[in-house]
Amino acid sequence: MFSPAKVNLYLRILGKRADGYHALETVMVPLTFGDDLILEPQPQGITLTCDDPGLPTDDTNLVVRAAKRLQEVGSVTRGARIRLRKRIPLAAGLAGGSSNAAATLRGLDQLWGLHSPPATLHEIAAALGSDINFFLQGQPALCCGRGEQVQPLPGTLPGWVLLVNPGFGISTRWAYQAWAAAEAAAGLTATPPEVTVLAHALAQQDLATVGRSLYNSLEAPSLRKFPVLRLLKETMQAAGAVGTLMSGSGATVFGLFAEAPSAATASATIRARFGPSMWTEVCRSSQTSEA
Ligand code: C5P
Repeated sequence: MFSPAKVNLYLRILGKRADGYHALETVMVPLTFGDDLILEPQPQGITLTCDDPGLPTDDTNLVVRAAKRLQEVGSVTRGARIRLRKRIPLAAGLAGGSSNAAATLRGLDQLWGLHSPPATLHEIAAALGSDINFFLQGQPALCCGRGEQVQPLPGTLPGWVLLVNPGFGISTRWAYQAWAAAEAAAGLTATPPEVTVLAHALAQQDLATVGRSLYNSLEAPSLRKFPVLRLLKETMQAAGAVGTLMSGSGATVFGLFAEAPSAATASATIRARFGPSMWTEVCRSSQTSEA
């Protein structure tokens, strides 16, 4: 199973909910870049291995939690061996863990011949996290609630995406708390752009307008705490990006480019200026999976 990364082209926090989560309006697109999962039958139990030693493979991993939940819901007695080839950086705002969980649900549903209705997989997904439902759908979407309510959007993101990760992670929980603290201190801040402008630009495949409509409520507090993120954005803009933004809760920032060569040149410039340990990847939007 291919397990794509995502970027958020828009993420507006509407407020804090009674359950502690934040109410969102976000537009996400899946990318051609991602991880691979190999799923094989075994008589019983769930075994996860990963080529990245930094990732815990015990019962706390979303892949294992998704597999065990599907076993319970589907009354499955058989097991599965899952090998994860990790390419998506961890705690990077690219939703690698959520994507892996969605690929596990879809893959094991096939492997075990369950033919679960989409609603059943969506219910399991929503209980496990906020971004997993988006990956079950697998196409550009407007996501609401705490992120788990997915409305597919017509059209797609044209052009090329340059992902840049500075090599440190940002905790999603910290990013939301930093937003809440900044909001409490500043009171009413500038009104974000309306999401309808971005949705319309995607439908028209109008990259210039997409570039001007990017927005993320979580970006400002992170740019203040980690100034390198601002420098990375400025470098991509100077190299011809039509827009730049931090994805999700960061720390990955991305630039949108009309042409592949300009994205590649921007990537080379960033590695030359900030050091080769800066992680970069050029990819595109994908629409590979179905509900
Ligand atoms: O649901 P998920 O595991 O993706 O969320 C991780 C953390 O991010 C939550 O525990 C919460 O602190 C924060 N979060 C939030 N509002 C959201 C999504 C996530 O406050 N809509």
